[in-house]
Amino acid sequence: MILLGAPGAGKGTQAKLIADKFEILHVATGDLLRDAVIKETELGIKAKEYMSRGELVPDQIVIDLILERLKGTDAKVGYILDGFPRTVHQAEKLAKVEEVDIVLNLDVDFDLLLERLTGRRSCASCGAVFHLKYNPPKAENICNKCGSGLIQRPDDHEDVIKNRLETYNRLTRPLIEFYDHLGKLKNVPGDGEINGIFNSIVSLISPQ
Ligand code: AP5
Repeated sequence: MILLGAPGAGKGTQAKLIADKFEILHVATGDLLRDAVIKETELGIKAKEYMSRGELVPDQIVIDLILERLKGTDAKVGYILDGFPRTVHQAEKLAKVEEVDIVLNLDVDFDLLLERLTGRRSCASCGAVFHLKYNPPKAENICNKCGSGLIQRPDDHEDVIKNRLETYNRLTRPLIEFYDHLGKLKNVPGDGEINGIFNSIVSLISPQ
């Protein structure tokens, strides 16, 4: 399963709920890359310069990373991809090795994305995601799940967000047509309550 959507559309939020309910693996390229950045691996050092500018990391780096991750035994039960593919080239490479069952496109009004991203706070330890207004933690700046401190992602500042949205429009949005053409695409309205959106997704994918 693939989850498409602009930065801040709610891919990570919904992918975690979907993975829990259907007991499949959640693979988020952004999380894999941020982990490499923190560990200062060779890949992480390269990726950091692109991510901090709000640009895409070069295709080959991300393709190698994801294909390696999908070889894991925990991927055998099925998986949801969050943040991959992000270019038509990545989608074509994926199609050569994996059969995609369904592609969900989280469709959110562009005006809402800036507020969602600037208000996001993430747990540096377990990766849980919150929002200061829409999904606040129970205690200020403390993760509900593991009790660690919350941080603001460095690419969630307004100047970088602008670039991320522009990059999405230019390179990732064409994937909607790509998967629609293959008959795989389901559009999901992504405005509204997190649980309401999740229920719509469940009713869309359960028959499959
Ligand atoms: P990545 O981490 O994938 O970032 P993104 O696509 O920009 O998506 P986000 O994580 O910002 O948003 P999301 O849609 O997951 O929203 P979330 O659920 O958190 O990628 C980061 C960078 O890595 C890229 O810029 C690029 O450099 C690189 N990269 C990654 N993949 C790559 C690839 N394949 N190729 C090349 N480079 C790659 O929600 C956002 C906020 O809104 C949260 O605070 C949440 O609580 C809140 N929220 C969620 N749903 C709702 C709702 N319904 N109502 C109100 N608030 C909501």
